[in-house]
Amino acid sequence: MTRAPIYLTTPIYYVNDKPHVGHAYTSLATDMTARFKRLDGHEVHFLTGTDEHGQKVEKAARDAGEDPQAFTDRVSTSFRELARVMGFSNDDFIRTTEDRHKRACTALWERLVAKGEIYLGHYEGWYAVRDEAFYGPDELTERDGVKYAPSGAPVEWVREPSYFFRLGAWGERLLSFYEANPDFIAPPSRRNEVLSFVKSGLQDLSISRTSFTWGVKVPGDPAHVMYVWLDALTNYITALGYPDEGAPLWHFWPADVHFVGKDILRFHAIYWPAFLMAADLPPPKRVFAHGWWTIEGQKMSKSLGNAIDPVALIEEFGLDPLRYFLLREVPFGNDGDFARAALIARLNGELADQLGNLAQRTLTLMQRNCDAVLPEPGAPGDAEAALVAAGQGLVAQVRSLIDEQKFDQAIAAIFALVREANGYVTQTQPWALKKTDPARGVAVLRHLHDALRLAATLLQPVMPETMAKLLDQLGVPAEARAIAALAVPLPGGLPLPAPAPLFAKIQAG
Ligand code: MSP
Repeated sequence: MTRAPIYLTTPIYYVNDKPHVGHAYTSLATDMTARFKRLDGHEVHFLTGTDEHGQKVEKAARDAGEDPQAFTDRVSTSFRELARVMGFSNDDFIRTTEDRHKRACTALWERLVAKGEIYLGHYEGWYAVRDEAFYGPDELTERDGVKYAPSGAPVEWVREPSYFFRLGAWGERLLSFYEANPDFIAPPSRRNEVLSFVKSGLQDLSISRTSFTWGVKVPGDPAHVMYVWLDALTNYITALGYPDEGAPLWHFWPADVHFVGKDILRFHAIYWPAFLMAADLPPPKRVFAHGWWTIEGQKMSKSLGNAIDPVALIEEFGLDPLRYFLLREVPFGNDGDFARAALIARLNGELADQLGNLAQRTLTLMQRNCDAVLPEPGAPGDAEAALVAAGQGLVAQVRSLIDEQKFDQAIAAIFALVREANGYVTQTQPWALKKTDPARGVAVLRHLHDALRLAATLLQPVMPETMAKLLDQLGVPAEARAIAALAVPLPGGLPLPAPAPLFAKIQAG
């Protein structure tokens, strides 16, 4: 079955700093969605990468005493490495210093010029290098003679010649676009924030700078480099071959979901669709803004020195438990706190005790009582009613929760089945049936096997490595691991390899 192509993107990460768990989070959510969609029969393109131009990166390179290109080459590698250790299944990794990207930015700029959307003027106002954003005077607060943006970043006064994009003329068209596409901004709680910003009136946007040089040169006026957000947002179409709208990947546009953090929603939900519509290109279908992680109740920051390196977490807890925790702990869209105790509690309680034990008990008994061979499927009876009910409709439920980016609920729904299966074990006591009613004992194990296969299949996008191991132990052939394959019961007679524990419990402390 071929289903609609799906294009999913992460933000491209600034290379001014080492990656931390906050960066891993945006990409993890995207990865989980990409894996689910592939498993569900879609052709998926999953893009991530690094944002390498602009004043902030130029300053970080200078502080490190390196040439910006050498600096970005080095730091970009650490994001590529993060994608590898986190098991991300991205199809491409884009860097904004690549030629293909410069070509796309130049072409988009020229198209906007041709459409009369760009003019040369003078910018005078407040700029926060940390956010790479312009702010109006009414948005600022002042402490000890320094002015700050709402994000907490200090601003500086900038006065220089600049090209402008006629954003001021796009307010009404953006509002009708939001109205016609109620699902464009998600979660719904974020919609109003964007709407009221647009309703308060948009100013034309400064889209070039002359006070530094680390950027894509403005065509025909190389004293200017493009504003880093115009450059950065364009990455989403560069990767599909823009400006060649006949390129092999172009059919993925418009993007299905741009996954972003709440701090960068304004750029994606206001500037980006305005640039695209101005260039006669369709805007993305959806922008989802997730919340921010704190660490043990504190903001994660370089100065506090508490930014968590995901690699250290993986070494301590394992990759899949970390992926599970990040996706399960906090409703996607809310802020959340990263606490070791909470991670350990979920690892021990849900992964080891509920899922791990269920698999271990079932598969160990199947070795002994079924001669390590999968029994024929059997019709469920009254004793199985609750177990069957927990599995019925689960695929459709999980699919629709993932389409709404409710990852925590999708996982909880799968674990409701696991809980039900554990209850069924307690109730039926399959280990005792070997003596009293061996045929019934075998039938019970087969029902448990069916439940485990369903749970393991649906959990593959969350814990790819561990679920691959579980599916191996369940004897599920590689070609029967997609979601569509769940419609057909596994034939009896498949060999069941010896089981091994899936999750190691961690001592709290
Ligand atoms: N370069 C821009 C994005 C350009 S996209 C065209 C940028 N980069 S960033 O490296 O600063 O941030 C990338 C992502 O990491 C954002 O989505 C941001 O929300 C996310 N996070 C950074 N710190 C975070 C937490 N503490 N918690 C969760 N996510 C956080 O912005």
